[in-house]
Amino acid sequence: MKIGYDILGNIALLKFNREASVSVKKKFALSYLKNHKNVSTVLEKVGKFSGRLRTLKTRWLAGEKTKEALYRENGCEFRFNVDTCYFSSRLSEERKDAASLVKKNENVLVMFGGVAPFAVIISKLSKAKRIVSVELGRECNKYAKINVKRNKLDNVEIVQGDVRKVCLSRDFGAKGFDRIVMARPNLKDSFLDVAFHLVKKGVIHYYGFCKEDDLEEMKEMVLEEGKKAGRKIRILKVKKAGDIGAYRYRYRVDLKVLN
Ligand SMILES: C[S@@+](CC[C@H](N)C(=O)[O-])C[C@H]1O[C@@H](n2cnc3c(N)ncnc32)[C@H](O)[C@@H]1O
Repeated sequence: MKIGYDILGNIALLKFNREASVSVKKKFALSYLKNHKNVSTVLEKVGKFSGRLRTLKTRWLAGEKTKEALYRENGCEFRFNVDTCYFSSRLSEERKDAASLVKKNENVLVMFGGVAPFAVIISKLSKAKRIVSVELGRECNKYAKINVKRNKLDNVEIVQGDVRKVCLSRDFGAKGFDRIVMARPNLKDSFLDVAFHLVKKGVIHYYGFCKEDDLEEMKEMVLEEGKKAGRKIRILKVKKAGDIGAYRYRYRVDLKVLN
């Protein structure tokens, strides 16, 4: 039987193939629980991340009946509900890498902040001055605030709302950020126009999704958006930041904005 595993602290998320019966799943979940002392709840993943909020559907299989995870990563702790909030432990190296690039006293914006893992880890591992995390989902924002408090941070602001509306409002101002992390959902809107409006001469980390063969097209789109916004940009680096399906990858494109 082929099973996919995601361990989010106390919660194990298992993905079974279609043929597996309920009784086989329950039996497996119980034995999993017995053999993994750190896990107290076993859930089954039903379907993929979907919708604007990139949420997941899960079904309880064994152990404590909860959907709330307590997960540790990069020396930080995160609470979140696995059904109502997007969270991927596979981005942990990416978060550490992003934090390592942040320079002293930078103002950093994290778009699509989720439960604030990027913001919290950047705050913990760098000497950034201020980090703003913007997220649409109300549940994510509730946990983001809990996570900022839990990790005892005083330079992280959590803002609830649509990146396009909130970040283009007058309160946000223009060219206020040295660095923008665009941990985008895998949806159509690139949101690059918003990032170009907000970034000073600085750096944007753009996350995009495509096949390896389409990477050049994605780079061209990014350069074209820069031109449209009247910003001079140079691509510093493109790196694979995980796979998301058959021959499809998450790429991080690091852009230097020169004017
Ligand atoms: C790929 S997840 C990234 C979450 C987080 N950065 C992380 O690493 O866990 C994308 C997030 O963007 C949020 N989102 C989607 N559209 C949005 C929008 N227009 N404005 C703000 N947040 C949005 C979703 O709710 C989701 O939490």
